Amino acid sequence: MRVPLIAGNWKMNTTVNEATGLVRAMRDELDKITDVERVICPPFVSLAPVKELLKDSTLKLGAQNLYFAEKGAYTGEISPLMVADLCEFVIIGHSERRHYFNETGEIVNKKVIAALKVGLKPILCIGERLDENEAGKTEDVLTGQLTSSLNGIDNLDGLVIAYEPVWAIGTGKAATGEWANKTIAFIRQHIAQLYDEKVAQEMRVLYGGSVTAANAAEFMQQPEIDGALVGGASLKATEFLSIVTQTSVFSTRK
Ligand code: PGA
Repeated sequence: MRVPLIAGNWKMNTTVNEATGLVRAMRDELDKITDVERVICPPFVSLAPVKELLKDSTLKLGAQNLYFAEKGAYTGEISPLMVADLCEFVIIGHSERRHYFNETGEIVNKKVIAALKVGLKPILCIGERLDENEAGKTEDVLTGQLTSSLNGIDNLDGLVIAYEPVWAIGTGKAATGEWANKTIAFIRQHIAQLYDEKVAQEMRVLYGGSVTAANAAEFMQQPEIDGALVGGASLKATEFLSIVTQTSVFSTRK
């Protein structure tokens, strides 16, 4: 049985005050839903104060990025050791990083290796653009991204994959549950090819892209979908709580 996971990617939103306020608004209710792993990923500057607020909580913390070197003259970057000091998870290879910050497959691969080395659980994001989707290239894009991101990695300890079609991120146009389920089944099949069936069956694969309280059930009832990476809706306490609650309901039925 794969434990479902809902991760909130706050992106570049919330000051420290706003971040701690948001955590206070949802922490106690989220703490009651223990059959879903709940992760929040605030901006770097809020990780330490949020960690303090989560001292007695079962909510987990994730970072949105890291750099692959452990320390040194890399002005402005945050190292895996610094992230591991505060977090259990780290989002790697988000499409916004790939597109706005030119992160290549090779860079994503270095980051995944660096995260695993310090015991962080990467949430590795993959997904096709609209033009690739329309050209029928989704499966090729995903196998390419998986192969390059996981190059040379024997042990995927704790790694989670998030399938996020780029056309669905922040657009309000989510994929259908059926499409996401089918594509995630394909991703799992490719993991079985790269590793083995056991690794593939144990691997959690999330859907991400315009998930809201209104459409969460459509995704969470799908057998292949193990949770969600939620952007915009994770900034509203009631929306996020509703997504987690619905995930809990469906997890008992799968
Ligand atoms: P969204 O973002 O839920 O706002 O579409 C998802 C993501 O980028 O992880």
